[in-house]
Amino acid sequence: MLPAVKDYRDLARRRLSRFAFDYLEGGAEDGRAMARNLASWGQVMLKPRAMVDVSDIDAGVELFGRQQALPMLVGPTGLNGLYWPRAEEALARAAHAIGVPFVLSTASTSLIEDVRAATSGDLWLQLYVQQDRRIAESMMARAQAAGFGALMLTVDTMVHGKRDHDIRNGFRMPVPWSARLLADLLAHPRWCLRMLRQGGSPQLVNLARSSGMAANLAQQAAAMSRQMDMALTWDDLAWVRRHWRGPVIVKGLLTVEDALQAQHAGADGIVISNHGGRQLDAAPSPLEQLPRIADALHGKMHVFVDGGVRRGGDIAKALALGACAVVLGRAPLYGLAARGPRGAAEVLAILRTEFEITLRLLGAVHARSLDASWVA
Ligand SMILES: Cc1cc2nc3c(=O)[nH]c(=O)nc-3n(C[C@H](O)[C@H](O)[C@H](O)COP(=O)(O)O)c2cc1C
Repeated sequence: MLPAVKDYRDLARRRLSRFAFDYLEGGAEDGRAMARNLASWGQVMLKPRAMVDVSDIDAGVELFGRQQALPMLVGPTGLNGLYWPRAEEALARAAHAIGVPFVLSTASTSLIEDVRAATSGDLWLQLYVQQDRRIAESMMARAQAAGFGALMLTVDTMVHGKRDHDIRNGFRMPVPWSARLLADLLAHPRWCLRMLRQGGSPQLVNLARSSGMAANLAQQAAAMSRQMDMALTWDDLAWVRRHWRGPVIVKGLLTVEDALQAQHAGADGIVISNHGGRQLDAAPSPLEQLPRIADALHGKMHVFVDGGVRRGGDIAKALALGACAVVLGRAPLYGLAARGPRGAAEVLAILRTEFEITLRLLGAVHARSLDASWVA
């Protein structure tokens, strides 16, 4: 095992082709939102309490009535097949092994049904809504049939943020051949071989199945970006509710006003998120918004936060500032890209160890006891 999440990031950078790493890592435009996300964790200090018996600690939390081993989710990320074949199955297994839910993206490269077959753990579905609502309805029906527990409706992706690095690298779906790409691939033969073994470019198979599209990546990618329903409003939460039995979480909010709207519209939870700094580059960091939003909601909804979680101690900070759990984006992907399924599991184990160390050093016996009184 490597010492820290950062080391898996560095290894992933060496192991992945340039365009794949840039897609994983990059933020929108000048990367300011992403930089704010990362920096925000360093601004928070916690006050330790001395002489507390911390021989037994309880790092778990209850989310929607189910006990989870840690206050974290392996969050939704699209196109994971770029890093490792059968990536979502591997992430779901790693999440289950450590005792937390895995959230499968609409833009996944494995089928809902295949991820279910790979694990008996808690699975949640992340939903993007296309103009043709039958696609989302089919995806929700398939996920319910597969026993997925909660739905995470992402609302910050009406269009894709402008990611200059992808434009510079000529990264499109399917990846267009060029001399530059060839040089990139030749420099990463092991990654290339893995991609070839899985049959070339990963496919957006879930979207393809629910929209009845052929296995044509160009069509799938076009459907994904051009056909996103830009007319989605709070009223549409009632439509989601009609098609989903379990908890509904709205992902991608950054203001008190929107959090209250979500509550009013009947959501069970929210994720305060700027999509890892990949969308609006002028967005504030979610962690900075967390205390005000959590205060305004008075504990009536589950409040998750994401963006830049790279240390177990960050989880303690999020909880102290009012979150019920954090959502992981890039961290487990670094592990997966660096060392495959083993690497994803190692990154989750590092976060657990760091979180447990933080709880003990703080004198906090129960994760759920963390609140504003611990913030310096
Ligand atoms: C490569 C990549 C792909 C992503 N794809 C999705 C997605 O399909 N759906 C979604 O709701 N969020 C997506 N996100 C955003 C993450 O769910 C999460 O909000 C963000 O990554 C958190 O920031 P962090 O990566 O710094 O931890 C993606 C993020 C990354 C890095």
